[in-house]
Order: sequence, then structure tokens, then C-alpha cells
Amino acid sequence: MNLTLQTTSDGSYTFFSSEFQEPFHALRGAREEAQEKFIIPCALAEKAQQQSHLKLLDICYGLGYNTAAALETIWKWHPRCHVDLIALESDEKVLQATIRHHLLREWSSPLPDLLTTLAQHCDCHDSYLNAKLLIGDARQTIQQVIQQGFIADAIFLDPFSPPHCPQLWSLEFLGLVAHCLHPQGKLATYSCAAAVRSAFSLAGLHYTSTMGMNRRSTVASWEKLSLPLSPLEKEHQQTRAAIPYRDPSLQDSAEIILQRRQQEQLSSNLESTSQWRRRWQQKHLNQGS
Ligand SMILES: C[S@@+](CC[C@H](N)C(=O)[O-])C[C@H]1O[C@@H](n2cnc3c(N)ncnc32)[C@H](O)[C@@H]1O
Repeated sequence: MNLTLQTTSDGSYTFFSSEFQEPFHALRGAREEAQEKFIIPCALAEKAQQQSHLKLLDICYGLGYNTAAALETIWKWHPRCHVDLIALESDEKVLQATIRHHLLREWSSPLPDLLTTLAQHCDCHDSYLNAKLLIGDARQTIQQVIQQGFIADAIFLDPFSPPHCPQLWSLEFLGLVAHCLHPQGKLATYSCAAAVRSAFSLAGLHYTSTMGMNRRSTVASWEKLSLPLSPLEKEHQQTRAAIPYRDPSLQDSAEIILQRRQQEQLSSNLESTSQWRRRWQQKHLNQGS
């Protein structure tokens, strides 16, 4: 993957991926995104005050910002909290580029040393951290996580967007991810796509919206979540946009997964998403008049 370094509005850096044609983070702030879309929705400050041991699963580790923000928050509230971390990443070049550009130095001590060791050796053991980085397609490495019986208090789900990386948003993959979530744990993702939300629901999870950086994102859990979806969001889940991505063998290419979903949408009796949008725009206009 060809990686171009970019600055974001909060002063932190990210990469642009030529392969996925997307930046790794929101250009409004990479560091802020980690905090607002992953750490706050997973309630890590609260969990760190209640527990002396936490388990984290970071899916699509990239530059490691979600892990770094999580460790910074946890140890701020509970400096002796033991953390077990498993991170999944397919591309070692991202880890090397992060070190080469000194991007880990932006985090407070001891994170730069710990995360450099993790990126270089795929493994880091310290008094309060036990971390492993599994390199490979997350559709395969998630199976090792399940075999180890690793059950996470917080899961960060941070692939490139569904149209560019549907492999990591499929019903089948998210079903495996759900297996790794503790009964009281929380899974956070920046996506609020109807297809992703219906995959959570079909996997048996509850979900709701969270607001981070003035945008909707999603938090999912086995437990019922207190904030309900808005009527507009509920109806969005009844449209063709909510047809999930499917990848039955967990091996298909992005093109095949996108085509399969498009065909399912074409033959569906559900309302089209454009009709739903028009209906809500009309409602909005009527309320204003
Ligand atoms: C949006 S970026 C993640 C950003 C990251 N969480 C961070 O804080 O820097 C997506 C990451 O997913 C990785 N990736 C893409 N396809 C993957 C796959 N099939 N399995 C595992 N990782 C994958 C990319 O290499 C990239 O590092």
C-alpha cells in the first residue's frame, strides 16, 4: 500500500492509502477521532475506575491511535490497571511507516516505547500491558482470537469504509467479532451505515448512535443501550440500505461482496433509500411551513 503522510485539523498526522483511496482518519482530527468515536463510546474512563484488569481488541490497528488513546485514558484513571490487548492488522508497512515518521512520539510516556516494541516485534509485555499484534487478514486472524477464548471489554472496529473494504463489515465477519465481546462490553465504530447496523442486529447485538465530532457513529453491545434510535434512523433500517454485506466463505474479494449486495438490493421489496430520503425531506418541509 502506498502511504502519504497528511496533517489533520487537530495537529495530529494520518496516512492516505492509495490502495483504498481513503485517509486512515477523519481529516478533522485523527487523535480527536480516536477519543470521540472509540474511547468515549466504549466508556473506557468509567471501566478503568471500576476494574483493575481490562481486555481490548483493536481491529485494524493502523497507526495504533485507538490503542494509544485507550491506554492513555485507562492509565490516567487507573495507573495500575492491567491491560490485555490483541490488535489485528494486515499491512506491516503501515507499522513501519508509523515508526519511520515518529508518529508514536505524539503520545505520552510510556506509550511511544511500548507501541514501538509492539509494532517491531508484534508483542509487548510490561508490568501493566500484555499486547499482541496479529498480522494478516482480520477475517482469518479473528479466528485465532476466538480460539484463544479472548473476550474483550472494548472492541474498536476501524476498517476503511464499507464501499472500499466491505470484507470487514460483512454479516459473517461481524458475527465472529461479536463472539469476542464480553456480555457487558462495548464495541465502537465510526460507521453509522444501515448495512453495518443490520449486521450487528443479526449477530444478536443491540446498537445505538453516538455523536463524535458532530457526526453519528455506532456503539454496540449485548446489553440493551439506553439511548434509542431516532424515528428517522429506525426507518432507515427498513430500507434497502440496510441489506448487509455478505461474505459466506470469509474469502471473497471486495468486488464480489459489493456485487452480491447490489443484486440482493435490486431484487428486494424493501423501500429504496432514495424514496425514504425524499419522504423525510418532505416531512421536514411540511413541518417548516
Ligand atoms: C482506517 S485504517 C485504521 C486506522 C487505525 N485504527 C489507526 O488508528 O491508525 C484501516 C486499517 O485496516 C488495515 N486493513 C485493511 N484491510 C485489512 C484486513 N483485511 N485485515 C486487517 N487489517 C486490514 C489497513 O492496513 C489499515 O491500517
